[in-house]
Amino acid sequence: MANDNYKMQAAERALTYVEPGMKLGLGTGSTAAKFVDLLGAKVKSGLDVICVPTSEATAAQARALGIRLTTLDDCPKLDLTIDGADELTRDVKLIKGGGGALLREKIVASASDRMIVIADISKQVAMLGAFPLPIEVVRFGVRATKDLIEELAASAGCIGEIKLRLGLDRQPFVTDGGNYIYDCAFGSIEEPDSLDLLLKMVPGVVENGLFLGMAERAIVAGPKGVEELESSDYTGLDDLLDDLPED
Ligand code: A5P
Repeated sequence: MANDNYKMQAAERALTYVEPGMKLGLGTGSTAAKFVDLLGAKVKSGLDVICVPTSEATAAQARALGIRLTTLDDCPKLDLTIDGADELTRDVKLIKGGGGALLREKIVASASDRMIVIADISKQVAMLGAFPLPIEVVRFGVRATKDLIEELAASAGCIGEIKLRLGLDRQPFVTDGGNYIYDCAFGSIEEPDSLDLLLKMVPGVVENGLFLGMAERAIVAGPKGVEELESSDYTGLDDLLDDLPED
């Protein structure tokens, strides 16, 4: 599987950013899992890091590999998060949440000084939206929430089928946070920043899978080798805080 090899190459490059003593965020999904495997091998040979996982699945994998885990409650500030993506543009805007972990992924990424995305070349797109955008919603009033998402997304030019995600048992998929997910097949998202802001106005929406200005760089592996893309609008938390008006 070529993509599997590319995922591994991206994960290997990401490992070069890890330094002894770091506090790391560990992403979710098949690409992040390769990074966790590599990190586990390093830990076995003596690397000292402490990590916050973004899902129960990643926590179980890391635990089995002997990686020291903590929580954001005990360790609210992380140095670096390494995570995958479902789609990414060359200016490192992302869609995430295909694996259902977008909320914890966003919380962990926001608690990190830096986020680096790892992906195989199949994830790189000119415009976000071919991958249905996951939106995590609370269970209460889920139908009304869907209607509001539909209305507001349309005002940002995003129209397409909005489907409640189902699990293998054909029942609604439930996230680690106990919520549901709508997958929104918008086709193309021409103004992701506007859509993000509009979705944040819906009370039933917990979070959406747009990660904009969150990742500092992406490591993308493909037939031409490993390429590192830098975000043009990366805004670390310190930058955001600097922009806040003083009282
Ligand atoms: C998990 O919720 C997602 O955000 C993943 O990061 C994303 O689905 C990428 O997964 P793969 O590496 O398995 O494609």
